[in-house]
Amino acid sequence: ATHAPFYEKDCSSITPPYAQLIEKWKYVRELLNNRPLTLAEKILYSHLNDPEKSLSGGGKIRGESYLQLTPQRVAMQDASAQMALLQFMSAGLSRCAVPTSIHCDHLIQAIDGAESDLKRSIASNKEVFDFLESAARKYGIEFWKPGSGIIHQIVLENYAAPGMLMLGTDSHTPNAGGLGLLAIGVGGADAVDAMTGTPWELKAPQVVGIHLTGKLSGWVTPKDLILHLAGKLTVRGGTGRILEYFGPGVANQSCTGLATVANMGAEVGATTSTFPYTENMRAYLNATGRAPVARAADKAASMGFLNADGGAEYDEVIEINLSELEPTINGPFTPDLATPLSKFGSFVKEQGWKDELSAGLIGSCTNSSYEDMTRVAELAKQAKAAGLVTKVPFLCTPGSEQIRATMERDGVTNTLEDVGAVVLANACGPCIGQWKRDDMKGEENAILTSFNRNFKSRNDGNRLTMNFLASPTIVTAMAFSGSLSFNPITDTLTLPSGKPFRFTPPAGRDLPTEGFTQGNTDYYPSPVPEPQPETEVIIRADSQRLELLEPFQSHFGDRGLELPPLKVLMRVRGKCTTDHISAAGPWLKYKGHLTNISENLLITAVNDEGGDVNVAFDHDRAAGETETDTIPAVAKRFKARNQPWTLVVDDNYGEGSAREHAALQPRFYGCAMIIARSFARIHETNLKKQGVLPLWFADKADYSRIGSGDVVETIGLADLIEGRQNAAVKLKVTKRTGEVFEILTKHTMSEDQLKWFCAGSALNFIRSRMS
Ligand code: F3S
Repeated sequence: ATHAPFYEKDCSSITPPYAQLIEKWKYVRELLNNRPLTLAEKILYSHLNDPEKSLSGGGKIRGESYLQLTPQRVAMQDASAQMALLQFMSAGLSRCAVPTSIHCDHLIQAIDGAESDLKRSIASNKEVFDFLESAARKYGIEFWKPGSGIIHQIVLENYAAPGMLMLGTDSHTPNAGGLGLLAIGVGGADAVDAMTGTPWELKAPQVVGIHLTGKLSGWVTPKDLILHLAGKLTVRGGTGRILEYFGPGVANQSCTGLATVANMGAEVGATTSTFPYTENMRAYLNATGRAPVARAADKAASMGFLNADGGAEYDEVIEINLSELEPTINGPFTPDLATPLSKFGSFVKEQGWKDELSAGLIGSCTNSSYEDMTRVAELAKQAKAAGLVTKVPFLCTPGSEQIRATMERDGVTNTLEDVGAVVLANACGPCIGQWKRDDMKGEENAILTSFNRNFKSRNDGNRLTMNFLASPTIVTAMAFSGSLSFNPITDTLTLPSGKPFRFTPPAGRDLPTEGFTQGNTDYYPSPVPEPQPETEVIIRADSQRLELLEPFQSHFGDRGLELPPLKVLMRVRGKCTTDHISAAGPWLKYKGHLTNISENLLITAVNDEGGDVNVAFDHDRAAGETETDTIPAVAKRFKARNQPWTLVVDDNYGEGSAREHAALQPRFYGCAMIIARSFARIHETNLKKQGVLPLWFADKADYSRIGSGDVVETIGLADLIEGRQNAAVKLKVTKRTGEVFEILTKHTMSEDQLKWFCAGSALNFIRSRMS
């Protein structure tokens, strides 16, 4: 609290409307018979669009009810923003319903240092950046240029505020939870909900209470807390749950340390993580130019809004005594394989791995705070004084231009470079596979990073690179030893003189005493930019990466509000995730080009008729066409024939990520309906948004009765659309053999969703309301 801000921002658009939120929270509290609420519930329920509608069931809410929410802000990174913006544009609005920002960070490479990497990446991604910038200008979106920093660091420094609910199109959006809010990572279609003012739906998460006692000290940092917890909870332990920390161990951690903990809640699958408002959060708000937000939060906290009520019930409580933790190293290849530092050497030996580190990487959105950087600089100083330099390549990615400039001003950068560090651009770089290394091609090797993810090939594209996660201080100390079994707490390094050298645990400073310096403000947007409707959104006519979205046509024709006869494209067997429907990898470069990315439709799905992958039958083939072809090729033939189609799919269809491409692509080729044994909820909603009707088999055995080339007609859809909500939709199936039968289906379409369907898509519906 002693740090005076060097600058103060315009906080008008970033201060949460606390009076309004508190009023709604109190209203909901009454609806719930004044039962004590967790902090996560207070924040969620105060953002309900229509509390009665979401909470009126009378039954259990957490884990069961669906909440219709109004988030206050959206942040998007350059890769996921492309399709989100294209969709937003097709809604025909002139501005976003909530403040929105775009951050250019994922497309920046890490090859030989900040300046040249930035220049090269701007040139090679020019068309994408031009598109994003022009769209941002047109719709009044804050555009953070390449070089400004990593989305999550910028959000924490500029937009996050205690008690707010925000969405981000990136899985580590929860990082902002370090400031005591709920920040949730979503797909582009969800972001578009918030941007168009459509209520955003979330199944009320369970709330896990994490009770922190004791104090971190010595070599143990907040990163070790979350690495330890990841080991306990595993990569699935947080699914459908919010992690809410409480207890005396919260208040004594820095705000940026809490952000690291919240960031990696994503690694256990948590919806998000949050903390009660603390003194250190106030100090961070002040230091980052947001004293008015801090004052407003103080007031909200005094009314009890920014912490859990006494006696609030959690779905589970996990106890952690911070004083008992030790540094932890997680990996390789999964973030939940946690090994305490004291056992890591023997773990490496047992596995038979070479006791060699090939590189150390620090920074990223997870660990590039001023505190992290001053801690590692302290180690570097000790090493330099002893005459040591790092033994392996040592790369540092500052999280933002503000961090980079402050590091430079305070001598942190020099200190790191003195011992051999290479400072990369303020961007994701090696954290997202943009690291082009010259060494270790195809060779087994081990790297240590302070990042958050460690899937195979994540950093350098080499499947044999074993990626271990640790705190920045442990990564740095290890980089001086070059060996995996080195434990800086107990071991010494040998100096050129032959004398032993031992590091002293570094302390670091949570905030710069001189305040932050903003650095090159050319990278920054003007606050609260006004839309410039006359701006032309730049998409090159011959672009292979970007394509304007044509609004989808309504499906209805001669049969009134019943669908036209649909041809079954295929019966998909077994597990079919959004990755099977729209593969990632090399296809990611087409995220903004629906025609090109649709070429990957279902290419890893199994056809239940024959068991082959990526094979579909074309029973109506014209002369010269083959009987079987790839799935996208047959889908394309259907589209060319104006033949609307349907898919028959198995259980939990569309599980996995919230990738909207998995709904857009079938729709693009003419899919009107998907009949499933069951759907994964998020994907089911995405299908509804894109105008595809998801129906559930009333009797799962009917799945096997329908095959490719059969014709399916709806019976009773018109009744449903015309307001007889309980009307059951039947399907009349005409087999290729001529046999005809009817089957019963179920659905989860709400009144609003039926309107989307009739309009052809949710965005069409929004556009129709405008005109
Ligand atoms: Fe994500 Fe790493 Fe960037 S976690 S936001 S890719 S720094």
